[in-house]
Amino acid sequence: MTKNNYVKIFDTTLRDGEQSPGATMTSAEKLEVARSLARMGVDIIEAGFPAASPDDLEAVRRIALEVGRPAPGESEAKVPVIAGLARANKSDIDKAWEAIQGAAKPRIHTFLATSAIHMKHKLKMDPEEVVQRVSEMVAYAKSKCEDVEFSPEDAGRSDPEFLYVVLGEAIKSGATTLNIPDTVGYTTPDEYFALIDGIIKNTPGMHDGITISVHCHDDLGMATANTLAGIRAGARQAEVTVNGIGERAGNTSMEEVVMALRTRKPIFNLETGIDTRQIARVSKLVSNYTGIVVQPNKAIVGANAFAHEAGIHQDGMLKHQTTYEIMRPEDVGVNQTKLVLGKHSGRHALRNRLAEMGHSLDDVELDKAFARFKELADRKKVITDVDLEALIADEFYRPRDVYILDGMQVTCGTMGMPTATVRLKGPDGKLHVFAAMGSGPVDAAYKAIDHIVKMPNTLLEFNVHAITEGIDALGEVTVRIQGQDGLHTMDAQSEIPYQRVFGGHGADTDIIVASAKAYLNALNKLIIAQTEGLNPTPANHLHGVMLG
Ligand code: KIV
Ligand code: ZN
Repeated sequence: MTKNNYVKIFDTTLRDGEQSPGATMTSAEKLEVARSLARMGVDIIEAGFPAASPDDLEAVRRIALEVGRPAPGESEAKVPVIAGLARANKSDIDKAWEAIQGAAKPRIHTFLATSAIHMKHKLKMDPEEVVQRVSEMVAYAKSKCEDVEFSPEDAGRSDPEFLYVVLGEAIKSGATTLNIPDTVGYTTPDEYFALIDGIIKNTPGMHDGITISVHCHDDLGMATANTLAGIRAGARQAEVTVNGIGERAGNTSMEEVVMALRTRKPIFNLETGIDTRQIARVSKLVSNYTGIVVQPNKAIVGANAFAHEAGIHQDGMLKHQTTYEIMRPEDVGVNQTKLVLGKHSGRHALRNRLAEMGHSLDDVELDKAFARFKELADRKKVITDVDLEALIADEFYRPRDVYILDGMQVTCGTMGMPTATVRLKGPDGKLHVFAAMGSGPVDAAYKAIDHIVKMPNTLLEFNVHAITEGIDALGEVTVRIQGQDGLHTMDAQSEIPYQRVFGGHGADTDIIVASAKAYLNALNKLIIAQTEGLNPTPANHLHGVMLG
C-alpha cells in the first residue's frame, strides 16, 4: 500500500461539491475552476458525474481536453489526473470513459454501497450480489482505463469484515485506489482511524501499488478531523472540496486539510502539492460561481479567519504576531496590502498589479479592466487587491451577456414607494426601459428587470456584504435563483432528478447596482442554459489566467 509522506489531494468540488443544492456551475465556470485547481497543484480533479446528463458529460469532456492535457512544451507531470464518477454499471462506466478518455491521465471512479442499510433499502441487493457486482464492474472499468478507483459507499456505517471482502475483490479486479467514504458524516475520528487501519491491515491482496483514500462528510462537523485521522492511519489521498461545499453539511474542506498538514507539520510529517498562496483566490472563485457565500468564521477562508486585530486579541497581536496567529495570512493568499493603486495610476501599473495577482490580460481585456478601474477610482480613493479581484470577477468571470445593465435610477426612503427605473441592453442590441415599484429598492429593481427579461424564476437567496472596510467600500451581492421548468440534473447517489439552481454575483460601490448585476448575472446563466444547454460557448472570461 502506498505509504510515503505525500498526500494526494483529490478535489471533488466539481462533482460532490456541485451536488450541493444550488451549486450549479456553467461549463465555462467549471473549466475556470478546473484550471485554477490545476494551477494550485491539485493532484486529481473529479470533474463530474458524466451519466447525470449530456451536459454534464460534455463539461467533463472539455475539462479532460483543456485542463487534463499538457500545453505545448509543458511536462505531463504537471497535469492533474481527471476523474469521472460512475455508478457500478456498464452504462455509467461507458459514459465516464467517453468523457475522460481525452485526458493525459484519466481515472474512472466507480462506487457501490456496502452498508447493510444501503444494500437493503437502496440497492435491494444481497451482500453476495454486491461483491459480485463490484468485481465485475471494477474489471469492466479496468478494461477501459488503467487507473480505476473504487468506493464502497457508506463505508463509515459498513461492517468492516464485509468491507475487507469487497475491497479485496476490487483490488483483484484492478482498482488501484480504494476510497473509504463516510458518506453520511457519521463516524468519529477514533472510529475512522480504526476503520482505515483495519482496512490497511486486513484487506486481502493489499499491496504497495494501492492508495487508500479518505472521503468524509461534515454532518457532525467532524469531516476534517476524520480526514486527518484517516491520513494518520495511512491514507495517502484526501478527497475534499473548496470551501467544504457539498451535499447537506458539505464535504471535508480542502483548505482545512492542507493547512492543518502544513501548520502542524511536526505532528503529521506529511506534504501536499498545493500552493497554499492560491487558496483564497480559488475559494473566492468557487463562492462567486456557485453563489454559496463562505461563512465569516469559516476556518482559513472566512472573512474573519485572520481578523485578529479585533477586540481582546489586539493587544497580544500588537506585542507579537504569533500570540494569536498560527498561520500567516499571506500563506493562504489573503493579501494584506491595503494601498495598491489610486486614481492616478496608469494602465501599466494596473497590468503589472494584475499580473502579480495572477491575471494575465491581453490588450482588449486590459482596456476593459482599465475603464472599470478608472470608474471605480473616481468613486473610491484607494483601490486594494480585494477591490481588483472583485472588479476582475465582475468584468470577466461572468457568463456570456444576454442582458446587460445599461443604467438604473432608484428612489427609496420613507417618503414614498421605492421605485426603480432600469435600462437593459437586450440580446437584440436594443435598449429596454421599465420602471417598477417594490417593497424596497432591490425588490423594485428586480421587478423592473423581470418585466423586461421575462424569465420566470424563484429567488432563493440574496446576500450582500462589503468587500473592504470604509464607507466607500465595494458592495458585493450574491444571489441564487431557480428556473421554473426543465434543466434537471441528477446526483450519483440519490438518483432523483432535481432542478438546477443558478448563482449570480455582482460588485459595485452602489449596492443596489451590485444587486441588479448579481441578479442579471444569474438570469443570464439561466437564459443561456435554457436555450443552449449548460455548455454554451464561453465568452466573458479571460483567455488565460496565470498564477504566480
Ligand atoms: O460520499 C460518498 O459516498 C460519495 C461517493 C460517491 C464516493 O461521494
Ligand atoms: Zn461524498
